[in-house]
Amino acid sequence: MNAYNFVAPFYDALATLVLGQKFHGSKWAFLDIIQRGDTVLVVGGGTGANLPDILKRCGKEGKVIYMEASEKMLDKAKKRIPLNISGQVEFICRADFKFQEECNFDVIVTQFLLDVLTDQDITALFEEVNQRVTSDSKWLFLDFFPVRDKQFLIRLMITCFGILTQHPRKELPDYAGFFTKGGWVAAKEMSFEKGFYQAKVYLPAPKVIKSDTISLK
Ligand SMILES: C[S@@+](CC[C@H](N)C(=O)[O-])C[C@H]1O[C@@H](n2cnc3c(N)ncnc32)[C@H](O)[C@@H]1O
Repeated sequence: MNAYNFVAPFYDALATLVLGQKFHGSKWAFLDIIQRGDTVLVVGGGTGANLPDILKRCGKEGKVIYMEASEKMLDKAKKRIPLNISGQVEFICRADFKFQEECNFDVIVTQFLLDVLTDQDITALFEEVNQRVTSDSKWLFLDFFPVRDKQFLIRLMITCFGILTQHPRKELPDYAGFFTKGGWVAAKEMSFEKGFYQAKVYLPAPKVIKSDTISLK
């Protein structure tokens, strides 16, 4: 059984209890980057608290691809969507980030996802996503950062998720390293709880043109 199926029934309540209402609210940071007509990819969106707002922002002309590893999380997300707009969301239950769609993603949303993935999974995610982005794509990222006065809580969360999902992560990932290596650059940042969790908007880094490829006729 998928480990997240086990926590799905009480995930939101537990997270709010341990981390507070601000944690929940942070998932709305920078949603305004989503424009009418956008194709939005949400990976690991859990119970989809902000999914109705994401849908509202991309409108009838846009669509959301909602990829989640846990069927139970996915079921909860589905229940948030009124029937009349359910056709605007494609719910996909898989954990390997393999996208069948031909489309490019205008916005990629990962919130509190990278911290529960292994480094190999994060590399795979970037490889898959990068095949479907354009120079105008944006990546909305939100996750925990290792601030000093939250060390105990961070260690506790990593240990609990490590046991639950049986993965070997011992510390938070080097997010900036993955984004830089993947060709993304941070354009906007918002900090919560003195940097304990941070939302960032990443854009594709401008491509460096090698001088030996420029013709000087
Ligand atoms: C810590 S929860 C965060 C949920 C939600 N984004 C939030 O902010 O509350 C991580 C979520 O990522 C999902 N997940 C974990 N590994 C995944 C993978 N490889 N592919 C897709 N979803 C994944 C889990 O099922 C879970 O719903």
